[in-house]
Amino acid sequence: MTKEIGQVIGATSLRGYRFVIKKDMEEHVKRDEFVTVKESVTGNQILGVIKDITISNELLPDEFGRDLRLGDIILSEGEYPVPTVKILGYEKNNSLEMPRHGITPGSTVHLAEDELLKKILQQKEQQSANMGTIATRESVPVHVNINELVSKHCAVLAMTGAGKSYTTGVLIEEIMNKNGSIVVFDPHGEYRNIKLENSEVKVYSTEDHNKIRINVSSLTTIDFMNLMPDITETQRDLLEEVINLSEKFYDSYDLETIQSILGMLYDLKKIKKKEKENIFPAEILESMSKKVGITTIGALMRRITRLNRMKLFEMEGTSINEIVKRNQLTIIDLSDADERISEAIVSAISRKIFSGRKKYMKYGEGIRTPTLLIIEEAHNFAPRGMEERTIVSRSILKRIAREGRKFGTGLCIVSQRPNKLDSDVLSQCNTQIILKIVNPSDQEYIRQSVETVTEDIVRDLPSLGRGEAIVTGSAVNLSVPLRIRQRKTEPGGEDINIVEEWNK
Ligand SMILES: Nc1ncnc2c1ncn2[C@@H]1O[C@H](COP(=O)(O)OP(=O)(O)OP(=O)(O)O)[C@@H](O)[C@H]1O
Ligand SMILES: [Mg+2]
Repeated sequence: MTKEIGQVIGATSLRGYRFVIKKDMEEHVKRDEFVTVKESVTGNQILGVIKDITISNELLPDEFGRDLRLGDIILSEGEYPVPTVKILGYEKNNSLEMPRHGITPGSTVHLAEDELLKKILQQKEQQSANMGTIATRESVPVHVNINELVSKHCAVLAMTGAGKSYTTGVLIEEIMNKNGSIVVFDPHGEYRNIKLENSEVKVYSTEDHNKIRINVSSLTTIDFMNLMPDITETQRDLLEEVINLSEKFYDSYDLETIQSILGMLYDLKKIKKKEKENIFPAEILESMSKKVGITTIGALMRRITRLNRMKLFEMEGTSINEIVKRNQLTIIDLSDADERISEAIVSAISRKIFSGRKKYMKYGEGIRTPTLLIIEEAHNFAPRGMEERTIVSRSILKRIAREGRKFGTGLCIVSQRPNKLDSDVLSQCNTQIILKIVNPSDQEYIRQSVETVTEDIVRDLPSLGRGEAIVTGSAVNLSVPLRIRQRKTEPGGEDINIVEEWNK
């Protein structure tokens, strides 16, 4: 039997109602508690959630003002709390529908049964990720639908230190438990130590150990400009021509190729010497060399040499079918790379994954496995608004956010500065896991950009504790306050006890 906790009072609406609490039931009535009441005509059990509780005392009306002195008088007799309930809907086929008929004043209010909440939050076992329990009901697990989460993208948002990476780790565990495929771009090297029992974990870095390599022919002129920020306009034009030439004459090429073309131009300019054997028509080279000064060629050659020294950009590059595999978690540790290199890596790999999936969907070749890209510190890779420079990763992330669903390429963006995120990318994330956020401009920006984030939700964000979140959006049947479950794997990014370190 469910507990009767009160009776509806005042006027009701299809959005909410208020009730008085039955004697001795006060302890059950708290914010975010779920309650039910019968719909007048159909008798459906309408689920609602307590959003506010006002307590007034008839012996102490507002008009008493500041001159009142109470002394020892006990006034709790005249006190009565009135909870306000927001209607969520009635259960139909494991999801919620909004009622069409009203609620009769005087109706009995019950505490919602665990079974009802479980039924609503349930997902089909093979596509369900168990993220934890309802924060106010530890007996009710919260499941999110992995298919929805991956195909329609998700966002994990919170202020710094609130537990984004921990939560993302829980999500990774759950998805990998379903033989998933995930690629994490990890700017702080926080994920590299994850160990999974039944799945492969592959870690790439930008240092010598298991280095990630990008094939040069996948880089665009804009990528090069980003990698060589101080490049001049004439150098850029020259580079563009050299790239075009390489594309025309080779299937794939590397920085050495570019370098050797520049070398030929240099020689032509300097000693008017023509290469004896050479696949390029002499007229092309000659007309190119006429257009540029020798110093431009020399300067560009030095820049390309510098880039080549990093040994990240090569003829072949790491095979995309090594990076994206079924039942494999791939961590791309960017902690040793500067921001421009990181951007280039994120953009080149995301681009390859997206086009590989597209190819597979169209022609059956390319990347077989649908995959989820997790972008930590996403505000750096998909920042909002006009930047003084082009952010190369932003355009591909926008593209995946927009079209990824059709090609089985999901995006999970993780950020502590939602306010700094590109609004298209943010608004395309159809599921949100939001932890504590106190910054009003971040709250406001999320509310504006994300359809499912309501005023109510935003209001709750500052009061969330560590390990508490609100999940909302298409992967859950009901927005609920969530207590994130414990990690099974080792979390990274621990807080440093600074004072203890000083005293060691
Ligand atoms: N649900 C949780 N249960 C237990 N510990 C948690 C939980 N969430 C976070 N923590 C701990 O809190 C600390 C900070 O968490 P985490 O690194 O995930 O925060 P973050 O939001 O990713 O921070 P940053 O903005 O620096 O990336 C870590 O020590 C982590 O282990
Ligand atoms: Mg983090």
